[in-house]
Amino acid sequence: MSKTKSHDQPTHEQPTHDRPTHDRPMRIGIAGLGTVGAGVVKIMQRHSDLLAHRAGRRLELVAVAARSRTRDRGVDLSAYDWEDDPVALAKREDIDLYIEVIGGSDGPAKASTTAALKRGAHVVTANKAMLALHGAMLAQLAEEHGASLRFEAGVAGGIPIIKALGDGLAANEVTRVFGVLNGTCNYILTKMARTGRDYSDILEEAKDLGYAEADPTADVGGVDAAHKLALLASLAFGTKTNFDAIAIEGIERITLPDIQFAADLGYQVKLIGSARMTPSGLEQRVAPCLIPNHSAIAALDGVTNAVVCEGDFVGQVVATGPGAGEGPTASAIVADIIDIARGGNRPVFGVPTSTLVDASPLDPGAARAPFFLRMTLNDAPGALAQVTRILGDAGVSIDQMRQHGRAPEPAAVLIVTHEALRSNVQSAVEAIAALPISHDHPVVLQIDKG
Ligand SMILES: NC(=O)c1ccc[n+]([C@@H]2O[C@H](COP(=O)([O-])OP(=O)(O)OC[C@H]3O[C@@H](n4cnc5c(N)ncnc54)[C@H](OP(=O)(O)O)[C@@H]3O)[C@@H](O)[C@H]2O)c1
Repeated sequence: MSKTKSHDQPTHEQPTHDRPTHDRPMRIGIAGLGTVGAGVVKIMQRHSDLLAHRAGRRLELVAVAARSRTRDRGVDLSAYDWEDDPVALAKREDIDLYIEVIGGSDGPAKASTTAALKRGAHVVTANKAMLALHGAMLAQLAEEHGASLRFEAGVAGGIPIIKALGDGLAANEVTRVFGVLNGTCNYILTKMARTGRDYSDILEEAKDLGYAEADPTADVGGVDAAHKLALLASLAFGTKTNFDAIAIEGIERITLPDIQFAADLGYQVKLIGSARMTPSGLEQRVAPCLIPNHSAIAALDGVTNAVVCEGDFVGQVVATGPGAGEGPTASAIVADIIDIARGGNRPVFGVPTSTLVDASPLDPGAARAPFFLRMTLNDAPGALAQVTRILGDAGVSIDQMRQHGRAPEPAAVLIVTHEALRSNVQSAVEAIAALPISHDHPVVLQIDKG
C-alpha cells in the first residue's frame, strides 16, 4: 500500500462507521478504475461541493485499487492511497463505504464485497453478475452486520429503477416487471430493422463503436439481461434471486426476414427480460420477442434501456434511459453513495432477507401466448401441408403464414400462431425439425403484448 495523502487514522476500539457520522466525512474506497470506477472518481472530483450539500456531509475518497498503477485513466489519482489488493482495501478500517466496480460474479469482486460487509462497511456495486448469483447471501451478510448494500448501477445503468421499485412503488403488489435490459442487443436489432443489414454486419459495427465487447457472448446470448432480471424479480416479488431458473435465449439466430416480417405485421423484435408472478409459479424469461408497435417500449432506439413495472394500484410505469456507459453508471453509483451518506439503510431486496421466499419456477411450457415461427423448408409440393398438419395435431392453430424464396432454393416459411401453449408449440417444432424437408431447427419467438 502506498500513501500519497495523509488522513485521520481512526481509533480502533470501535469501528468508525458505527459512530454517529454526520459531523464527519463519509470515507470511501473504490476497487476497479475502469469505465465505471474512473467515472465515479470524476463525479466525486467535479461535484464535491454539490455532493456534500446533497448528502449533508462531505464524501471523501480515501483509497483506490486496480491492477495497473501506471495506466492512464483520465483522472488524477495522486491524492488517494493505492491498494493492489481489493480485499485489503475492503478491510481498511478507515473506509466507511466500499465501491466494488471490478466485475465478475466471483473472484476479487465477491471476496472484497464479503470482506467489507463482514466488518460492517457499506458496499455500493454495479456488479449484477455477482448479485444475481450471490445476492441472498450478500444481503444476509449486510443485514447481519448493519451495513447497506446498494446496486442501482447494476440494473439499467442510469435509470433509477431499483429505487423506484424498492421505494416509489412500494405500495403496490407488482404483477410483472419486464423490459429491454441490454443496450447492445437493442442496438443490433433496431439497426438491422432500420438499415436492412444482417446480424453479423451490425454486430461488428457495434464492436467498432464500443457498444459491444470484443467477446459479446454475455450480451447477445441474453446472460447479461438475465443477471439484471434476477435482481428486478427479487425486488418486485420478494423472492430470492434464482438465476438458474431463468429461461435464457439470445438474439444470435434472429435474421432480417424475422425482423421484416414482424414489421409487416406491426411488431418490433426486442430482447425482452420478463418476470411475472403467476398462481403456478414465478416466470422468468429472457428471449427475443415480437412487441406491438403501440407498446411503450417498441420505439426504443439504439443502446437505450427500458424497464416497465406493472403494479396493482399504480398501473404501468415505464422508465427509459441510458443503460450503460461511464456517465450513467457512475451517476447511479454516486446516487447510492449519497443515499447511504444521508443515513438511508433499507433492506437490500426491499424486505428483510429472512423473509425472501424461494419461489417455485413456472414450468416454461405452461405459458400461453401467440408465437412467431420461422423455418427453412424444401420448396416441394406438400411441404406446407406437412407443417400445418403437425401444428394442427399439436393443438396450435395458424393465424398467418408467408413464404420467402422458391425452388430450387429452400424457402423461408414464416408463421404466426393464435394463442397456444408453449409446450404444444415446442413439441410441434421438434416434429417439424425432424422432417426430411426441414433444413434447420425452426426459430420460435413469443409475441408479447408489451
Ligand atoms: N461499463 C458499463 O457501462 C457498466 C454498466 C453497468 C454495470 N457495469 C458493471 O460495472 C462493473 C465494472 O465494469 P467496467 O466496465 O468499469 O469494467 P472495466 O472497465 O473492465 O474495469 C474493471 C476494473 O477492475 C480492475 N480489476 C480487475 N481485476 C482486478 C483485480 N484482481 N484487482 C484489482 N483490480 C482489478 C481493473 O484494473 P485495471 O484497469 O488495472 O486493469 C479495472 O480498473 C462490472 O461489474 C460491470 O458489469 C458496467
